[in-house]
Amino acid sequence: MTTALITGSTAGIGAAFARRLAADGHNLVLVARDTKRLREQATELHDRHGIEAEVLTADLATDDGIAAVEQRLRDPKAPVDLLVNNAGFGNKGHYLEVPMADELKMLKVHCEAVLRLTSAATSVMRERGRGGVINVASVAAFVPRGTYGASKAWVVQFTQGAAKDLAGSGVRLMALCPGFVRTEFHQRAGMGTDNIPKWMWLDADNLVTAALSDLARGKSLSIPDPRYKALMGVVKVTPRALLGGLTSRTGRKYGPR
Ligand SMILES: NC(=O)c1ccc[n+]([C@@H]2O[C@H](COP(=O)([O-])OP(=O)(O)OC[C@H]3O[C@@H](n4cnc5c(N)ncnc54)[C@H](OP(=O)(O)O)[C@@H]3O)[C@@H](O)[C@H]2O)c1
Repeated sequence: MTTALITGSTAGIGAAFARRLAADGHNLVLVARDTKRLREQATELHDRHGIEAEVLTADLATDDGIAAVEQRLRDPKAPVDLLVNNAGFGNKGHYLEVPMADELKMLKVHCEAVLRLTSAATSVMRERGRGGVINVASVAAFVPRGTYGASKAWVVQFTQGAAKDLAGSGVRLMALCPGFVRTEFHQRAGMGTDNIPKWMWLDADNLVTAALSDLARGKSLSIPDPRYKALMGVVKVTPRALLGGLTSRTGRKYGPR
């Protein structure tokens, strides 16, 4: 039996990964900040699928939280075969409206935690000659879209670079770039969603199915939906100056502060 560790497992995309991997018979290490919610999730997945689900409470915006997950990933007695770096959030507001402390927190969770956890996991996986890492980025990585998009651009660049460096080692790394997915993300960030067209919404379970299939095929970048594949094709050939206004506003309508 293999083991997957998922950060941000209790809601949205992370919860969809947990459901799918448990249904496929993988043991899980579930990571988030809310211990009660993690325990309920672990019990539910154990009872439904007969897998072992460990709970690891950690705030990935803190050094102690990142170190606790690094330690689990390095445990030689209970190796992790698949790491899903999924925990993430959006700040409420555009550039210069968000307190610097919140901007730095985002970089800690989206970049530093992803770097440190990927490195802890892949150093062990390389020795074992097998393993996989999925780093959840966003299509926002490809368009001028505030500090959120900038942090996700880092995730894509880092993951694809590391995938090249580890080619041939048996360890696969893939950046996953979803479009809009109905989760708790927008509500947590205080974002209105009524200006996002219906056709742009993706289903989290379908997204996970496509992502796991792309990982199995050895892709280092996954944009899992024909609609977004087509959109990103257009983005590639559109001058960045034209993209700026349109993409930075889409879906970024914040409620009252
Ligand atoms: N939804 C979208 O439209 C969309 C699109 C593209 C990319 N993404 C990316 O997909 C990933 C998952 O987002 P989602 O939409 O599923 O969000 P979500 O529904 O809000 O879930 C976020 C998860 O991350 C955990 N989390 C948040 N901050 C954390 C921290 N500091 N330390 C540890 N865990 C933390 C949350 O649990 P606790 O609060 O208990 O910690 C929760 O389990 C993110 O990286 C996001 O940027 C989302």
